[in-house]
Amino acid sequence: MRDIKCIGILTSGGDAPGMNAAIRAVTRSAIANGFRVKAIYRGYEGLINNEVVEFSTENVSNIIQRGGTILKTARSKEFETPEGRKKAYAVMQKQAIDALVVIGGNGSLTGARIFAREFDIPCIGLPGTIDNDLNGTDSTIGYDTTLNTIMDCVDKIRDTATSHQRIFFVEVMGRDAGFLAQNSAIAAGAEAAIIPEDSTGADQLEHFVGRGIRKSKSSSIVIVSESPKCGAMYYADRLRKEYPEYEVRVSILGHMQRGGSPSAYDRVLASRLGVGAINALLEGQRNVMIGIRNDEVVYVPFSSAVKSDKPVKKELIDVLDTLSI
Ligand code: F6P
Repeated sequence: MRDIKCIGILTSGGDAPGMNAAIRAVTRSAIANGFRVKAIYRGYEGLINNEVVEFSTENVSNIIQRGGTILKTARSKEFETPEGRKKAYAVMQKQAIDALVVIGGNGSLTGARIFAREFDIPCIGLPGTIDNDLNGTDSTIGYDTTLNTIMDCVDKIRDTATSHQRIFFVEVMGRDAGFLAQNSAIAAGAEAAIIPEDSTGADQLEHFVGRGIRKSKSSSIVIVSESPKCGAMYYADRLRKEYPEYEVRVSILGHMQRGGSPSAYDRVLASRLGVGAINALLEGQRNVMIGIRNDEVVYVPFSSAVKSDKPVKKELIDVLDTLSI
């Protein structure tokens, strides 16, 4: 292992509940093992602009329960360029940061992978995204909390949907991944989920209507994964046109899904993965994401973690189909 004295930590991309718990775990575990910790504000953008503060254990007191990220976050366009990454590396040298822990989603860990390769820096990733779309980990930090937030919202929507005998299309986040839609649909007892991974080629709206759901139920809830072209509005408009007998409403949950205090599951996950990140560095690991698989902490090479082909289990699709009759 190259001599590491000081570890930089940043959060990047969309914030996720549990990021603060991860920052706390990385900071405390690093200090407990004799490292210095430098906190980088506003993700890679802050690294480029030298927004760096040394952290002690007190800096991470009283944050485990807070949503968002105390380090702020950003989606940095400049870091996507070789010039931007060069500037970021110069700041790492100036600040004497020897290794980097990046908490973020697919784009953020892809950035870490490129940066690590270009400048030979030990980088460790923590999966911090509500989307759950990173490979090699059963769950990402923030996913469980968001799933619960969606479930609570849908429970409330159901009260009004039932009272008025309406069909509701509820749009949830997920950025090209249907984990939030599929599992929140199961958890909230929704009638259907429309997700990007459904590769049957069948028209998902036709499938929903064709099953005659409205024959046995006076109201229905369909969870739709966000999509620029085929979101909840698209399906609602089609239903109104093709089946004018139905009364339709749309609810787009938006950024409320990303806020709020992290669930116990996300706090424990973030704490385990944060300690795992420092253990990985102590073991000489680099360029890996720390994940959880079958309740064991695992090291996943960046190259596998960021492959955007994590499947939604067919079994989950079947469970929803079976239970929504
Ligand atoms: O990646 C997390 C996420 O919340 C996605 O689900 C969503 O598509 C996106 O971020 C929204 O990004 P922004 O907050 O920049 O609008």
